[in-house]
Amino acid sequence: MDDDSEQGLLNMTVPSVWKTKRGKPKTLADELGAFEEFGKETIVLYNQIAGLSVPVFINEFWTSGQRQANKLHEISYRACFKPQLPKFFIDRLTEAGDVVYDPFMGRGTTLIEAALLGRVPMGCDINPLSSLLTAPRLRIPNIEDIEARLRSLELDEPIETREDLLAFYHPNVLTKVCNLRQYFIDRRAAQANDSIDDWIQMVATNRLTGHSPGFFSVYTMPPNQAVSVDSQMKINEKRKQTPPERDIIAIILKKSRALMKEIDPDQQGLLSNSASRSLLLARSCDDTPEIAHDSVSLVVPSPPFLKIVAYELDNWLRCWFNGINPGDVHLWQIQDPAAWQAKMTDVFRELRRVLKPGGHIAFEVGEISHGKIKLEDLVIPAGHDAGLEVRLVVINDQDFTKTSNCWGVSNQTKGTNTNRIVLLRKAS
Ligand SMILES: C[S@@+](CC[C@H](N)C(=O)[O-])C[C@H]1O[C@@H](n2cnc3c(N)ncnc32)[C@H](O)[C@@H]1O
Repeated sequence: MDDDSEQGLLNMTVPSVWKTKRGKPKTLADELGAFEEFGKETIVLYNQIAGLSVPVFINEFWTSGQRQANKLHEISYRACFKPQLPKFFIDRLTEAGDVVYDPFMGRGTTLIEAALLGRVPMGCDINPLSSLLTAPRLRIPNIEDIEARLRSLELDEPIETREDLLAFYHPNVLTKVCNLRQYFIDRRAAQANDSIDDWIQMVATNRLTGHSPGFFSVYTMPPNQAVSVDSQMKINEKRKQTPPERDIIAIILKKSRALMKEIDPDQQGLLSNSASRSLLLARSCDDTPEIAHDSVSLVVPSPPFLKIVAYELDNWLRCWFNGINPGDVHLWQIQDPAAWQAKMTDVFRELRRVLKPGGHIAFEVGEISHGKIKLEDLVIPAGHDAGLEVRLVVINDQDFTKTSNCWGVSNQTKGTNTNRIVLLRKAS
């Protein structure tokens, strides 16, 4: 657990300072400084940002040296982070039963990891696809029930299809996809959908398009980067391919088994216990009246970054399948750094409201790409202006001995496999 006793931190410039005989690290900063789990020592630098001297800890803190994350995470989503990232902070900054929140939930990486660790998951995302992809994995039905439900559906009934989608699907597959889609739309409209329907909808959404026979479509891009119909026709022409017949029930069952493979009865219990206390919102995270004041112990988000990731274009097919009009979803895609910083200040004000005193935000600010803007230079003043304490920056770099020179105050070159996290705290 972190606390206020970070004496000595400001004088420290080399990692060896942490290797004093202080015994077990008392604070997160202590632990980061002394960290050498994967055989490398931490590099510590100081960045002067917005009049603050902020310690920056660089090491390989997670990923390559660790066992793989639980397969339950393996739902594709553009710009998702690795589960090891939220796990690192959840393990160190929360206890079982604490609330862990992600205001930019995406595929729900933070929530699933929090639930697997016995925390209470909460999330928000302005894109309704996010809840559709996250909630079912907190309430996992059993595979026999999924199979029985799938086999009970009339997927070969004649139905009006979107002819242009024949660029992706064999006509028989398209009929099945359209019937499945209509089934979910009807069940939701009647509020009759249950956890089995929700699970199938999530898996089917994930299997819509991809590059292997494990997807419903002919070879194409993964479902989170759906190409346009025109581009798909060009791909088909170039590869001399026509969409093949697929057994969509078998595909859904196979992916379901893969997702559940590592869930043992204990984890199933943790998930269902946390599911009953979870909260998932589909709205903009700068205004979340559903979340109580002073209720959250840890927030682990990764915001939409300055560079444009065209979520709306990427997700057109997923939106169609789920009856979502992409035009109704107003994702933040802010290119101007000052405007982005102002939005993040609003988000931080809201996060400060919901955080418990002493609660933390581990705010991921992405990789350096072509190095023009370091997002922490915008995030640190935003957090400070919102009344949060800026504690430190963590840089997880699997190759940091090669790239560490770029983390100083000097130039920014391309980072590799790098995450940068600004740690903020609400005063106790
Ligand atoms: C970088 S992604 C987060 C990915 C997530 N960490 C994961 O592992 O899947 C950013 C997310 O912010 C969401 N978003 C954009 N504007 C938002 C807003 N105003 N409020 C809440 N979420 C928003 C996008 O829909 C997207 O899912």
